[in-house]
Amino acid sequence: MIVTGLMTGTSADALDVALVDFSVIRGEDGDELVMDLLDHGEVPFPSDLGRDLLRLLELGSVPLSLVADVDSRLGVLSADAVQGILDANRVDCDLVVSHGQTVQHLLSDGVVRGTLQVGQPAWIAERTGCPVLSDVRARDVAAGGQGAPLASMLDSLLFADASEATAAVNLGGIANITVLSPGSPPVAYDTGPANALIDVMARRITGDPRGIDRDGALAGRGRVVEPLLEDLLAEPYYRQPAPKSTGKELFHAGHLDRALASRPGLDPHDVIATVTRLTALTVAAECHRHGVTRAVVSGGGTHNPALMTELRRALGDGVVLEPIDSTGLPGDAKEAALMALLGWLTWHGLPATVASCTGASRATPAGRLTPGRRPLILPEPRPHLPHRLRVTTRPEPSTSVEGDL
Ligand SMILES: Nc1ncnc2c1ncn2[C@@H]1O[C@H](COP(=O)(O)OP(=O)(O)O)[C@@H](O)[C@H]1O
Ligand SMILES: [Mg+2]
Repeated sequence: MIVTGLMTGTSADALDVALVDFSVIRGEDGDELVMDLLDHGEVPFPSDLGRDLLRLLELGSVPLSLVADVDSRLGVLSADAVQGILDANRVDCDLVVSHGQTVQHLLSDGVVRGTLQVGQPAWIAERTGCPVLSDVRARDVAAGGQGAPLASMLDSLLFADASEATAAVNLGGIANITVLSPGSPPVAYDTGPANALIDVMARRITGDPRGIDRDGALAGRGRVVEPLLEDLLAEPYYRQPAPKSTGKELFHAGHLDRALASRPGLDPHDVIATVTRLTALTVAAECHRHGVTRAVVSGGGTHNPALMTELRRALGDGVVLEPIDSTGLPGDAKEAALMALLGWLTWHGLPATVASCTGASRATPAGRLTPGRRPLILPEPRPHLPHRLRVTTRPEPSTSVEGDL
């Protein structure tokens, strides 16, 4: 079954696309799901759409007309991205899974009251003729869960055979962790910011509204301000028990500015060095909390050497830090491949969430289906979850969708 997964996270930097061919291999100890990554890449957002996405994410209130407009424009871009990767690989796909852009993840007292993603799937179904699964978080929320982190399903299958306590950590705008300890149910939650506050400072320093601390150069020019770090670490979210999730509703520019208010005149390079260490410390603390000896990282933050150096130091000698690429899954493709996996599971009548991770009362399928050109015909449900996931890639994965759409 060929599935295209689409993801755009809280950084709103680009649309990630993964084209995956799933097959099941029967083994003596259960089914192995093989995820053959045919292609992956990212489609940068045109500057006007990127700017409007950030307005939706970062401003307290925006006109409803902007929400409706971005919903359609992201739907159109998503449709083009899917058609582009299918054409480049000369294949058809059986299902598209589109996460869309989370514009609200509403929390009160640690309970998720609602979660809203935009990126109208009708455009994808109409353009490509493929059925589309979208709104993949809401069902888990309806079952009492956080609707996040969804990566826990992929992580628990990918590291099903881990013989040591392993943390899968994704460093997007927000950082999330899945802890897999032999003999214990998996645990997963958002640890706090990964790049969210780093991006805020990078934008202030460079004056570029979509700038990043490319290769950690800005943090490399600053020194950590300990009292500021302590103030930031006092944020109660870090001490809240799991399951828990967060977003830019909490970790935005205003969060940083509250801590900066009592310290005027700090060198912005020192501030970016401080928030870089904040990410490293808060991620490492959660690895230590669970006695992890191996941390497997993915996401855009892995491209920031300043952050990776801080993280290695914060983890200490007792924890091996490695990129998720060592499992065969390229780190930049993880979240789009995750979407494809959630689609495969839901299509086959299987749960797409891990209730112990999201805090839901039960594991549920994900999302809702928009029919493609043909009526929806679902296959016979599978009786069991696969026991593990194996990722295979083509010898030279092409990045055919990058930038040419
Ligand atoms: N070369 C790089 N140097 C430093 N930071 C980078 C680099 N590439 C990506 N990033 C960081 O990664 C972020 C995007 O990560 P990503 O995993 O796509 O997050 P999300 O899932 O939130 O979209 C960017 O906003 C930036 O902070
Ligand atoms: Mg991204």
